[in-house]
Parts: sequence; C-alpha cells; structure tokens
Amino acid sequence: MLATALPLPLTATRPAWLAVALADLDAVHQDHLHCERKAAQSALSLVRSYPDRAELVLAVARLAHEETAHVVQVSQLLGRRGVDATLDHGDEYAAALRELCRRREPERLLDRLLVFALIEARSAERLALLAGAIPDPATAALYKALAAAEVRHRDTFLELAEQAAPATWRERLAELARAEAAIVDALPVRPRIH
Ligand SMILES: [Fe+2]
Ligand SMILES: [Fe+2]
Repeated sequence: MLATALPLPLTATRPAWLAVALADLDAVHQDHLHCERKAAQSALSLVRSYPDRAELVLAVARLAHEETAHVVQVSQLLGRRGVDATLDHGDEYAAALRELCRRREPERLLDRLLVFALIEARSAERLALLAGAIPDPATAALYKALAAAEVRHRDTFLELAEQAAPATWRERLAELARAEAAIVDALPVRPRIH
C-alpha cells in the first residue's frame, strides 16, 4: 500500500475526444487491442531489466497476466462486432513518454515505473469515459471493469515507484505528470485510446 493516499495529478481529457471516439468505436477497439498487448509487454520488459527485484517481478508478472486477459476480452469484443483487428498504428503518446525516461540507473527504473503509472491512469480515465457513454450495455460493462483494473495497475506501479525511490518519487511524478499533460494536449483528437 502507498504510505499516503496520492491523488495522481492527471489533467482531464478534452470533451471532443469522447465524441470522436464514439463516432468510430470500431477504430477505438482496434487500437485498444494493441494498448492491452503493449501493456503486457511493457510490464514483462521490467522482468527482463530487473530480474533481481523479486517483489517487482511478481507484481509486474501478475499485472502482465491481467493485461493478457484484457487482450483476450478486447479480441472477443471485436469478434462479437464482426470487426477484424488491424496492425498497430503506433503510439506517439507512449513513445513521447518513454523519451522522458532518464538513461542511468537507478533513475531509469523510477521513471519507467512512473511513466507506466501515468499511462495506466490515462487509460483508466478514458476507458471510464467510454464506459459511461457506450450505448451497448455489455460493452459498457466491459469498459467499466477494464477501467477499474487499470486503476489498480496505476497503484501497483506507484507502489513500486515508492519502494524504488522513497525520497524522490513524488517530486518526479509531479514533473512527469506535467509533461504527460503537455503530450496529451499536443496530440490530435482521434478515435484511439491515446
Ligand atoms: Fe489492461
Ligand atoms: Fe493496465
């Protein structure tokens, strides 16, 4: 558990995003499939980099397992809608955030954990927006459940960040959250999760 409750300072998504997303939900779901896949892969990349941190390995391996289950759920959703999955269109959002990660350890570990926490937080925010607006009840329920899972993942990464750098993680989180807000603001509004 986090030593003290932390309201992660996330800016609100522009209202225009939800309207654009609802106008092309198939494109959103196609992008979402890859978001879940990349979340699993990113979590497992921490196992590759920090195999000696047993607590971290366990936490992120479990998280990757959940993300893989989300890939299954989004794949099934596409199937129910009769929509084929597409290739990954890339993710300038995540790429820009990764650029902010410092190269040297131990700062690199802290930055990766905080960037993953921010991506989980932004994903949770947008999945919850979709859950509240998608007309089909089954799909809305799926998005509500996925949003709750991403909130838990956000907190997992924040807890790991606190453990990795108890003295500096909050200050760095605030810096990265400001950068995340600028990145989101600069991106075009389109039917994707980010
Ligand atoms: Fe997920
Ligand atoms: Fe997640």
